[in-house]
Amino acid sequence: MEKTLRIRRQENPFASPYFEEYRVPFEDKNMTIAVALLNLTEDQRIKVEGTHPFRPVAFDHSCHQKRCGACAIVINDHPALACDTRLSSFSGDVIKIEPLKKFPIILDLLCDRSSIFERMKELDVWIEGDSGLQGEEISYEATRCIKCGLCLEVCPNFYREGAFGGMAAMAEQAALLAKIPPEQRKKAAKNYKRSVFDGCGKSLACRDICPVKLDIEELLVRSNAAAIWKRWLKYQETGVIGFCKGG
Ligand code: SF4
Ligand code: SF4
Ligand code: FES
Repeated sequence: MEKTLRIRRQENPFASPYFEEYRVPFEDKNMTIAVALLNLTEDQRIKVEGTHPFRPVAFDHSCHQKRCGACAIVINDHPALACDTRLSSFSGDVIKIEPLKKFPIILDLLCDRSSIFERMKELDVWIEGDSGLQGEEISYEATRCIKCGLCLEVCPNFYREGAFGGMAAMAEQAALLAKIPPEQRKKAAKNYKRSVFDGCGKSLACRDICPVKLDIEELLVRSNAAAIWKRWLKYQETGVIGFCKGG
């Protein structure tokens, strides 16, 4: 069996991108895109006029078991994990490989996803002191997020500089909201409202793309209940709502 990988290359953050094609023979029908990328050689390259000097394709990868999220890329216009996508799963001959599009490119398929973690820092998604843990089940579900960023790629409401953090940051907030006791929830609830509730259109495109099949709908429902609805009911009773006017 053989496939052609059409790969988007870029030599540095400021260079113009270009495409290169490689003819990849494979016998194992389980061979992944990640392995194919790792093993590309000069000989596999399809010679075209103006070809750049050969260099291995740069891309992030680590676990090759769908656990670290590092290998998130765009394959035939569909965001996916390279280690979870087999060459044999495509019926056509040419497979187009590109980096995620919502983050700055560093080199080839490598992009800078640090904004996901910066966003989590801004949101203070950790507990200080003794939390008296609650909501273990939902918190466990949230911590299965591998921060691959595929959900951000398909989210119509996420862009890097915006206030909406998307699902990658939301999962951490859901874990926090499930764990902290209600009396300590004010700041987390305020952050959640600003960075998730106000921005999320609930289209759930993120749920369909998520490689670990996170129960995003349940996380949203439980977090909205913890951060928004109980406060709203309290507001209706008392006329005071925590996240308004400085919380
Ligand atoms: S929610 Fe799913 S798709 Fe989004 S970062 Fe987490 S694991 Fe990846
Ligand atoms: S539900 Fe829609 S708007 Fe909300 S994070 Fe998922 S893809 Fe984005
Ligand atoms: S290499 Fe870890 S998820 Fe693909």
